[in-house]
Amino acid sequence: MKVLGIESSCDETAAAVVTGDGHVLSDVVHSQVSLHAEHGGVVPELASRDHLRNAGPVVRAALSRASVTLADLDAVAVTHRPGLVGALLVGVQVAKGLAWAADRPLFGVDHLIGHILSIFLVRGDPSEPRRLPAFPFVALLVSGGHTALYRVEAPSADAIVELGATRDDAAGEAFDKVGKLLGLGYPGGPRIDQLARTGDPKAIALSSPMAQRDSLEFSFSGLKTQVAQWVAREGTPEGQRLADLCASFQATVTQTLASKLVRAAERDGIPRVVIGGGVAANRELRERVTDLAARRGLQAFVPEVASCTDNAAMIAYTGALRARDGGAGDGWDLVATSATVLPRSTRKGRGAR
Ligand code: KG4
Ligand code: ZN
Repeated sequence: MKVLGIESSCDETAAAVVTGDGHVLSDVVHSQVSLHAEHGGVVPELASRDHLRNAGPVVRAALSRASVTLADLDAVAVTHRPGLVGALLVGVQVAKGLAWAADRPLFGVDHLIGHILSIFLVRGDPSEPRRLPAFPFVALLVSGGHTALYRVEAPSADAIVELGATRDDAAGEAFDKVGKLLGLGYPGGPRIDQLARTGDPKAIALSSPMAQRDSLEFSFSGLKTQVAQWVAREGTPEGQRLADLCASFQATVTQTLASKLVRAAERDGIPRVVIGGGVAANRELRERVTDLAARRGLQAFVPEVASCTDNAAMIAYTGALRARDGGAGDGWDLVATSATVLPRSTRKGRGAR
């Protein structure tokens, strides 16, 4: 089975061809980062227009790199939620057109479920032995727009339960806001990751947000404020001080994320943990999750970096699972929606911390 996936929920225009068992035949990502960089964040109207410009070439490149034509496809999958509606609409309309022209079923995919299942993508030689998680597992989804823990019983929306999420900013949003504050440009996450390598994570004391033992919720806006107050007091750091601040901030975020992931798995008696989303590309988070899980006797599964940041391979694979189960697909009335299909347990900004 071969499925074409299309992704346009935020600032990446992406298309990929993936088989029913997760083998990535092509994966094309056009990033709009340079377009939004001067504005310090994603400008929705600019994003939509750029998706329009790039959707055609990106889809053509994905088909040609996989050496397939529309006729070779079994289905078309597209991100239809959550995200910027104007951006999602471009991908949804392109996918509808292609599925209709090829006379193939169309599957609308929730972007968050795509991230959660990205661990199943195989980018190397498909005959190599693969270490994949069995169900159930606990997933930590950390991206620019979302930060949450899920119990994943099976790869479908009705079998994924949110255990706790952020009360305010997402982890990636915190990286990006701190990056902006330090003049590192947009997005801040990868730059902070790089600078933190040569910094001392103990140099600057920052307190962990929502560190209570039994809470599976997160909060990152207070941590961003702590960094802002430090900068207001000490001035914008440079050189070693900048590296030290990045290392201290990153250590605080990744320590909180890793310890809550392990706590959730232990609380629910599930021996497997998985990470996904753009912040899962972070070197320190990957190491901490792997080390902490091993120390607690849990199995940790960390996707390849290319599978963490936004891509269409995870969307194609999620659609392929439904197609493989004999799903008829969604109707031509499939709509773009800003909210995720996954029910939320955490309410933003509510209750005692
Ligand atoms: O999953 P993603 O590509 O898009 C969303 O669905 O949001 O995540 C983007 C986020 C950005 O906030 C970016 O700064 C962050 O992931 N990110 C990182 C790293 N690479 C990307 N954060 C920390 N360390 C990284 N290496
Ligand atoms: Zn994403």
